[in-house]
Amino acid sequence: MMDLARRVAEAADLVTVALDELLPRAEGPESRLTEAMRYAALGPGKRLRTYFALETGRMLNLDDRHVLRAACALECVHAYSLIHDDLPCMDDDNVRRGRPTVHIAYDEMTAVLAGDALQAAAFEILAHPDTHPDGAVRAELVTRLAVASGARGMVGGQMIDMLGVREDLGGVARMQRLKTGALITCAFELPLVLAHAREAQRHALVAFAHDLGLAYQIVDDLLDAEGDAALMGKAAGKDAAAGKTTFVTLLGADAARDRLGLLKIQTKSHLDPFGAQAEFLRASVDFVLERHQ
Ligand code: IPE
Ligand code: IPE
Ligand code: MG
Ligand code: MG
Ligand code: MG
Repeated sequence: MMDLARRVAEAADLVTVALDELLPRAEGPESRLTEAMRYAALGPGKRLRTYFALETGRMLNLDDRHVLRAACALECVHAYSLIHDDLPCMDDDNVRRGRPTVHIAYDEMTAVLAGDALQAAAFEILAHPDTHPDGAVRAELVTRLAVASGARGMVGGQMIDMLGVREDLGGVARMQRLKTGALITCAFELPLVLAHAREAQRHALVAFAHDLGLAYQIVDDLLDAEGDAALMGKAAGKDAAAGKTTFVTLLGADAARDRLGLLKIQTKSHLDPFGAQAEFLRASVDFVLERHQ
């Protein structure tokens, strides 16, 4: 476990240094925008999407530098999604990653614009030749991230979440698949594209990602219901207060935990075809899902 914690921390450091290089520096009259982008994207996130992308890349014998650029793009979209998710018109949260949210540290207008610009930055990073020499590969990376981020992915899921429709279990699972699952799946898809991976590898890793993403959101919902806001660095109890339908409000915390137990076994089983090569990804399932933050 210690070894894994170190690997996750190393991945986090790598992506933070790379993002620091890639994001625009604060200068000129628009410096308030670039400062806010940096505040959000360089903040102390867990960087799990980066970890998954790097670990997958290593399993597929990719150059870390290419995967790291893909991870930077993912973290930019993720940071943008969190800035907007926290806005007063959405979840109205004041604390994220243990610090004031962007609209509190700056203002709403800056938060909207910083989110917009981080989204654009993500695609600029992917489209740059340093990400891969082959333009067709870069176009495929751009397409994957666009689909995962947009109406058929994260933003679509956010829409369902915000509408506050009383979903049944299937509806909540679909919302999760879009809202959180799509970007987590992308952490595996981008390295798969970079590696020109075989169909069988793609199927196995995408199935792994789907179950992992589902489990991840169940944990997020459990933490919202029962977690320690100080440890999490974000508010707790928000879902129930907002009347949101989540896995926990639908199933109750105990049944949600039971499902999580089953899901962990199922998630790991998708890695069987990779054998010992998937050692770290397999171990990361428990590590990631037993989180308290
Ligand atoms: C939080 O994502 C929002 C969800 C998609 C559940 P993370 O739990 O990955 O947040 P950070 O990046 O570590 O802050
Ligand atoms: C948001 O889900 C997922 C995003 C697409 C940003 P939540 O609203 O549950 O995330 P937290 O709990 O605020 O991190
Ligand atoms: Mg939300
Ligand atoms: Mg939220
Ligand atoms: Mg949540």
